[in-house]
Amino acid sequence: MARKFFVGGNWKCNGTAEEVKKIVNTLNEAQVPSQDVVEVVVSPPYVFLPLVKSTLRSDFFVAAQNCWVKKGGAFTGEVSAEMLVNLDIPWVILGHSERRAILNESSEFVGDKVAYALAQGLKVIACVGETLEEREAGSTMDVVAAQTKAIADRVTNWSNVVIAYEPVWAIGTGKVASPAQAQEVHDELRKWLAKNVSADVAATTRIIYGGSVNGGNCKELGGQADVDGFLVGGASLKPEFIDIIKAAE
Ligand code: G3P
Repeated sequence: MARKFFVGGNWKCNGTAEEVKKIVNTLNEAQVPSQDVVEVVVSPPYVFLPLVKSTLRSDFFVAAQNCWVKKGGAFTGEVSAEMLVNLDIPWVILGHSERRAILNESSEFVGDKVAYALAQGLKVIACVGETLEEREAGSTMDVVAAQTKAIADRVTNWSNVVIAYEPVWAIGTGKVASPAQAQEVHDELRKWLAKNVSADVAATTRIIYGGSVNGGNCKELGGQADVDGFLVGGASLKPEFIDIIKAAE
């Protein structure tokens, strides 16, 4: 089964209401391939989710950048999966390396979050990826497999999961993985899914790449057999994001 190209824009902790309106306007005016060809999801900070959802073109979708691991309640500062569902937010990004590193989210905790979010009806962009130190030690695949296993141990239905392979050394650094480096990990990850989950999940789950993707490098990266799209940070705040969406063509 063909995997539909997926382009996510992770706006991280950026933007004012005015800037957000500008980005949405740019997206709304853009000519891009149809929904049959590419699925586009943008992820503003929580506070801007209602604004973006209510003003964004109807063929693009929104994602939250995180959600809580279980039912809401006395968890100050958190936002629950149920709240996102209540606001009709279809997607959530979980396990981003910034949260793993800065907020000490373990792979098990990320796996629990993914399972809980899926159970509430959200679709999940689950992030995995190695640090430079881990890559240089030759343990890239061990790290990525362990992070994926923590999800696989808790999830049975993968139809609403997109895996984002984001090597930490490539995030926000301008040091993009080469197309061959990205393809190698995506291919190994797909083989890992085939062996440890199922051939069907391996064949149908989209594995997208994130880390210094821009308008100049997206075409070649997106042309790799196992690269099914992108999770874009910095460039998703710029008009260049449109060029990245067009890499689906
Ligand atoms: O989630 C997207 C990401 O971490 C990549 O960020 O700025 O390198 O495109 P950036």
